[in-house]
Amino acid sequence: MAPRKSTAATRPAARSASRSARTSSRSTAKKPTSPASRTRRPGSSQPWLHQRGVQVQEFGTVRQFPLALSYDARMYSCERLNQVLADTQILYALYKKHHWLMRGPTFYQLHLLLDKHAGEQLELVDLIAERIQTLGGVAVGDPRHVAEITSIPRPPDGAEEVPAMLSRLLEAHETILISAHAAAATVMEMGDDGTNDILVSEIIRTGELQAWFLAEHLVDTPLVHA
Ligand SMILES: [Fe+2]
Repeated sequence: MAPRKSTAATRPAARSASRSARTSSRSTAKKPTSPASRTRRPGSSQPWLHQRGVQVQEFGTVRQFPLALSYDARMYSCERLNQVLADTQILYALYKKHHWLMRGPTFYQLHLLLDKHAGEQLELVDLIAERIQTLGGVAVGDPRHVAEITSIPRPPDGAEEVPAMLSRLLEAHETILISAHAAAATVMEMGDDGTNDILVSEIIRTGELQAWFLAEHLVDTPLVHA
C-alpha cells in the first residue's frame, strides 16, 4: 500500500508522535519501516534507537579469510579457543570473587595478588577472543553463554575458607592448562602457528606462573621456628 500523504492539519501531530517514539527509552514502538517514516528532517542528529536485526553469523561457524589456513584448521582452532575463552572468563570472575571475599591474616597480600592475576587473565580474554575473530569465527562473549560452555565447576555463592578458595583457583588453572596443551599440539599439526603461539606463549606460560604463586600459599611452612 502506498504511504498516505500528510495534510497540513495532520503533519505536526505525526511528527511529534514520531519524535516522542524515537526518544523515549520506555517506548515499545516498532522499528519504522515505511519509506515515509524513514525520511529524516534535514539537519537532524537524532539516532535511530531500539533497532533489531538478524544474526549475520552463527556461533560455531567461520568466515573465509585469506590467511593461508584451511577451513578445517580455522574451524578447529576456533572451537578449542572458545573453550579456553569460556574457561578463562570464568577464571577471571573467580579471581575477582576471591579477591573481594578474601579474609584472614594474609588478606592484604592475597587480595592484591588475586587482583593482579585477574587483570592478567582479563588481558588473555581479549587476546583469545580477538584470535577467534581473526580466524573468521565468533567469540563467546555473553556470560550466560560462557556459563553453558565452561567446564570449570560453579563455586558456592557464599565465601569458602581461604585454602579452599586457592585450591579452587588452582584446579581452574589446571583445567585450562590441560585444554591448552592438547589444543596447542593439534593446531600446530594443522598449521595454525599463530594460535599455537598464543596458547603456548600466553595462555600456558601465564597460567603456569600464576599457579606457582597460588600453590606457594598452600605450603604449610613454619614462620618463626624451624
Ligand atoms: Fe578491587
